[in-house]
Amino acid sequence: MDMRPPAFPILAFLLLLIALSTCNANLMAVDLGMGYLKVAIARPGKGLELVTNEQSKRKTPAAIAFTTEGERLFGDAAVAYAAKAPARAVLDGRSLIGQCQPDAPEGPFCERRRLSVHGVADFTGEEIVAMLLGMAKSQATAALGGAAVKDVAVTVPPWFDERQRLAIADAARIIGLNCLGVVNSNTAAAIKYALDGKAKPTEEAIAAQKGKDKKKRTPKSVTQRVMFYDLGTSGASASIAEITSDVNSGHASRIKMLSHAWEQGVSGRLLDDVVVDRLADAFDKQRGPAATPSRQIPRVMMRLRKEAQKAKEVLSANMERFVSIGSLYDDLDLKTTLYRADFESDASPMFDLVGGPVRMALSRAELKAADLDAVVPFGGVTRTPRVQKEICDTLGIETLNKSINTDEAAAMGAVFFAATQSSTFRVRKLDFEDLYGRPISAEVDKEAKAGAFSRKGNPGFQKVSLFAEGDSRMPSKKTLSLNKKEDFSFRVFLDVDKTGLSRFPERTLYANIKVKGVADVLKKMKDSSKAKKAIPRVALTFHVDRSGHIRIGTAESSVDETVVVEREVVVDEKDENTSESKQSPTAETSSETEGSPSEETTEATVSGGEEKESKDQGNSKKPKTKKKKKTKTEKSTQTVVLRSALSIEYDGAEGMFGMQMSGKQLDAAKKTLKDLEDADKERVERADALNSLEGYILETRSKVRNAEEDDDLYTVSTEEEREKLVSAFDEAEDWMYTEDAKQTANLRKKHHELQRLYTPMESRALELSKRPDALKMLSAAAGLSSERVSALRMLHVERNSGREAEFDEVIEFTTSVRSWVSDMETAQASKPLTEEPVVLVRTIMEKGLKLREAVEKALKIEPPPAPETPPPESESKESEVTETTNSTSAEDGENNDDLDVGPDPQSAKAGAASGSGGKDEL
Ligand SMILES: *[C@@H]1O[C@H](CO)[C@@H](O)[C@H](O)[C@H]1NC(C)=O
Ligand SMILES: *[C@@H]1O[C@H](CO)[C@@H](O)[C@H](O)[C@H]1NC(C)=O
Ligand SMILES: *[C@@H]1O[C@H](CO)[C@@H](O)[C@H](O)[C@H]1NC(C)=O
Repeated sequence: MDMRPPAFPILAFLLLLIALSTCNANLMAVDLGMGYLKVAIARPGKGLELVTNEQSKRKTPAAIAFTTEGERLFGDAAVAYAAKAPARAVLDGRSLIGQCQPDAPEGPFCERRRLSVHGVADFTGEEIVAMLLGMAKSQATAALGGAAVKDVAVTVPPWFDERQRLAIADAARIIGLNCLGVVNSNTAAAIKYALDGKAKPTEEAIAAQKGKDKKKRTPKSVTQRVMFYDLGTSGASASIAEITSDVNSGHASRIKMLSHAWEQGVSGRLLDDVVVDRLADAFDKQRGPAATPSRQIPRVMMRLRKEAQKAKEVLSANMERFVSIGSLYDDLDLKTTLYRADFESDASPMFDLVGGPVRMALSRAELKAADLDAVVPFGGVTRTPRVQKEICDTLGIETLNKSINTDEAAAMGAVFFAATQSSTFRVRKLDFEDLYGRPISAEVDKEAKAGAFSRKGNPGFQKVSLFAEGDSRMPSKKTLSLNKKEDFSFRVFLDVDKTGLSRFPERTLYANIKVKGVADVLKKMKDSSKAKKAIPRVALTFHVDRSGHIRIGTAESSVDETVVVEREVVVDEKDENTSESKQSPTAETSSETEGSPSEETTEATVSGGEEKESKDQGNSKKPKTKKKKKTKTEKSTQTVVLRSALSIEYDGAEGMFGMQMSGKQLDAAKKTLKDLEDADKERVERADALNSLEGYILETRSKVRNAEEDDDLYTVSTEEEREKLVSAFDEAEDWMYTEDAKQTANLRKKHHELQRLYTPMESRALELSKRPDALKMLSAAAGLSSERVSALRMLHVERNSGREAEFDEVIEFTTSVRSWVSDMETAQASKPLTEEPVVLVRTIMEKGLKLREAVEKALKIEPPPAPETPPPESESKESEVTETTNSTSAEDGENNDDLDVGPDPQSAKAGAASGSGGKDEL
């Protein structure tokens, strides 16, 4: 099978991202794994790309360490630090998210877990993940050349529950990012697969589709079913995607996730443990029974774990791995050999679990193995041959379709997802729809009191199904319409998860919500209405958004009133029935769609026991096609709907939703992170200031100390001066270790002090090195200019132009310049070089500029007309120029360009020299 991507996806990939505007359009996606995180960015006009970190790696360990100095280390540095001080590092930050305190009773609502990092502080999982997202943000910012990143999409494994997803969104908010979505990593991989054109309809697929459709015509689109199997650090999952591709363009147009299934009994981490066990046993055997077992020494375990990760990868490709860890403990080295066969037999109970998600994903999608068009592995651990074999055996296939990049697919798919959710990017059209997969229901009660919910003898109680298992998709939407006159409460539940895979598979309270102000709003609406009959209703909309968050979008009270109106209508002559019919007002639209095919608006009318009457609102009149038209005035009764928003209040102390951070909690978390960031920044600034001061001291002192007799620096300074300077620098060096030097501002002050000491000497040396040449050059330029101008003057005298005075003026000036130069040389010669120079190079340059100006003016004087003979060639050229350019300013501009006038003395010098020299060539 040819694994190379066909040519078109590359092109398509470049074309699929066009930004509508360039400002602040940058966004990123973070594939947040438990072991590693990967970052992808989208930038206007440049498409999608994976970001490399400071070490030019495409994945960074999702690790943070807090040093004894309070410094934060990220990624590889944190992992390295963890080997020395395990208690100061967080290596699996993501697993803290959405967790309860270990001693708190586990439930949908609980006290948020706080992790105490040795000697630093307590952090919540949200704060730790926020720090990781912050690290991702700085990688993305660096890749974008400093441009700000405001939006993010984060991938999570499909087993993440609602509480964990809410926590991810909170983490993004803590670090100041707008969370565009929390995406299932398998869905993101499916998006990448589709974008890469891997689901491009093949001849066979088109033929097969033809067969399925039982039609002769070539189908417009072809649907393929692809299983994505992920095995990463924290678990295994399988998802089936239905990908529809257009036959003509070959592009995928729609992705629908049919099922997700997972198994956390097998994971990269657990497989590492298997290897760690072997290594620990080997080391303990080597050290003898009297020694402390390796498992009780965190530092040893940390290093063994690092080796185990490497060994596991090597054993994917090789049958054995020789392990050698120097001074693992007590100056003892570990030397042993690991064999793939041993690893596979040790891990065999785990490998037996690999097929589970495959079978369950098939059964949840009601498919057979033969229905799959491709099986695509991704996630680092799917490189293990035994894992691939298990997947193949479960499905009865020979090979897997390794068609996406194992490490990068999820991040790349997620960044495309983010771009579709952002208003600044125009992306190729690709619909996708994920599966929430769990039924959702609500309970309504007339009492706005907690604990009132009970069916028994309570006429106000009602249970309503919002989303059945099959139609709980992401996104989806439902409107619940209730006949309510007074405030009431309702509770949203995640219903029993029949697969039992969820963390809370039993019926779980999601949110407890009060709807307030119903009676007030109703009264106001009734008072302002002229209607005879008014029917009050309350409509609640529920969304499951693309991140898997259940939101109560709006709650509004509405009153249907029947009113009589007079109006002119256009009627068909033949259609005389309209006058009596009831018109539904066009203003009433009860369903809105967000453009996704899965979204539906269904009205579930609940009889609350208080209100008998319920009216069908749905039928609106279709406009009729009329051939002949005339108008007439008619009376009709209309139903007008008055709407008014109600307030909804969450009872935060119950349900999963209550785990979302409140504004106050969010602010506190933001402050915690800001303080850490400021401290980090201050530390970096101080280190920079210290480094640059130290560098300045070392470099300058050695220059001064080592200055030799023929060095300019030596010539322009006295022995005493140099000694004084060296001792001042010595003092400053000692000062760097004092308490005073702890402050960045003091370091900068000291740096400036030293500069003030050294700069005069330094600039005298610099002047000395440039001055003699500068003076010589100026004098030479004045000489040449004088010759050139004299020659021109001669011509004018010969032809009697009467303009020689103008030339005389310039010649006089060149003479004055030459005498100025010699004056300066004389004066400087009698002044010690250890004092301020008589004239600065800068002043010499300025003189040069003036000289050039004067000479140029003389050169521009029009040559006198030759009496008989044709003018020499060079002169005719010059006159041509004056003829074609009328305005003097244009002429100036042209000449200036040639002469290269620059504001800095360096180029002015060049100009002065070439000014006269250049003209000589004419
Ligand atoms: C997936 O792999 C199988 C077996 O190699 C092959 O027959 C099939 O065509 C592949 N599917 C795709 C979509 O590439
Ligand atoms: C008009 O009304 C009559 C009876 O009420 C019905 O038979 C006829 O189909 C109606 N015509 C139209 C165009 O609706
Ligand atoms: C230059 O000036 C002359 C007379 O003033 C005019 O006729 C001619 O059009 C001008 N040429 C240009 C290029 O402006």
